[in-house]
Amino acid sequence: MSDPKKLFIKTYGCQMNVYDSERMAEALGGQGYVETQSAEDADMILLNTCHIREKAAEKVYSELGRFKGLKAAKPDLKIGVAGCVAQAEGEEIMRRQPLVDLVVGPQSYHRLPELEAKARAGEKALDTDFPEEDKFEKLKGRPKAKRGPTAFLTVQEGCDKFCAFCVVPYTRGAEVSRPADRILREANELVERGVREITLLGQNVNAYHGAGPNGDMTLAGLIWELDKIDGLERIRFTTSHPNDMTDDLIEAHGTCAKLMPYLHLPVQAGSDKILKRMNRSHTADSYLRLVERIRAARPDILMSGDFIVGFPEETEADFQATLDLVEEIRYGYAYSFKYSTRPGTPAAERAQVDPAEADDRLQRLQAVITRHQREIQDSMVGREVSVLFEKPGRLPGQMVGKSEYLHAVHVQAPGLSTGQIARVRIVASGPNSLAGEPV
Ligand code: SAH
Ligand code: SF4
Ligand code: F3S
Repeated sequence: MSDPKKLFIKTYGCQMNVYDSERMAEALGGQGYVETQSAEDADMILLNTCHIREKAAEKVYSELGRFKGLKAAKPDLKIGVAGCVAQAEGEEIMRRQPLVDLVVGPQSYHRLPELEAKARAGEKALDTDFPEEDKFEKLKGRPKAKRGPTAFLTVQEGCDKFCAFCVVPYTRGAEVSRPADRILREANELVERGVREITLLGQNVNAYHGAGPNGDMTLAGLIWELDKIDGLERIRFTTSHPNDMTDDLIEAHGTCAKLMPYLHLPVQAGSDKILKRMNRSHTADSYLRLVERIRAARPDILMSGDFIVGFPEETEADFQATLDLVEEIRYGYAYSFKYSTRPGTPAAERAQVDPAEADDRLQRLQAVITRHQREIQDSMVGREVSVLFEKPGRLPGQMVGKSEYLHAVHVQAPGLSTGQIARVRIVASGPNSLAGEPV
């Protein structure tokens, strides 16, 4: 038998791309590929790309340029582009970078084996359709091996919200929820393979409304079904939209022990004028009241968020409103970005904020976020948390894992193993992680 072909996948962007890359590797596994960690070894290179900001999209072309030498040395090497840049730019990618053999959009991954065969035969292969069939059902590849204790599971994809700055509704298409029975089957398989924590993924995960045995199921309904799986210890979900935070989901945060006390709930800005122009359809006040209700259900919940600064027409007073909101919420984690113009989105046509001013605002916002993040992390010292261990640490006898609040925790103790959950007392807070001792 000939040696297996080698596949190198590089993943950019959000967790959904991480999940998709795993599925693509499985699908190509059925074509005789095994994964490699080095582009130099590969018979096929696949970039799973992100289009969310200009920088993310441009990175793809500079990365592709670097493969020129590899392709010259190995003419059989096939180069593919998947993900949101593939969807947004399609054929243009092959025009701009002729060494690309294959372009596949996120809704066509189940057609990857045919596309690969076409590329092998020396043709250019392109598929950026939005087909009707269930991609994930058809993406079944080789038998599944044992894996690490945490996994992503996509339950919902696409977005109908059309925030004025965002490409996702165009690159991922309309909102679609997977049927509950398929998700539960996949979750059971993951648990059989050693997974103890599942993060449910969707661009608007809390808008989930998949077919269940008694009609549509909400995300909370799905979480309660997952709660019944023996061996699954932790459930998380991301990313949520404030307008889809339903009562049953808020309540689940208080009553479902497996649902972790961490919620990523992007608000984007604190000024109602800007929120309106962003087409967010919530106000700063409705967001603050929502977080109050969530905290009433689960007082220790750690909030996380996303922010855009320098959105068109944002004034200093608008920006101050964002700072005020951040001071009020106190996020345990928050991701903040300078507004990036995306061609084809409504905000791209509007008066842009001076880039130097936007840079300055980003720095000021990040300073506040970092201060809160530190204070919240430091306040864990002396507390008892539960840690799911994910891998050995750098020191002998050390293990690293995550607390229920998603803080990284180092523990020095013999006998701990990957996949184990232990009660730990936090004894110190470092720059990026906590240190703890088993109790
Ligand atoms: N579905 C998620 C977010 C997807 S994108 C949600 O609704 O929150 C992740 C984050 O990228 C967004 O929350 C936003 O803060 C940021 N983002 C999206 N488009 C952007 C743009 N054009 N410029 C800068 N940041 C952007
Ligand atoms: Fe983009 Fe808004 Fe949809 Fe989130 S809700 S994916 S920010 S359009
Ligand atoms: Fe990027 Fe697409 Fe995710 S644009 S953030 S990879 S949905």
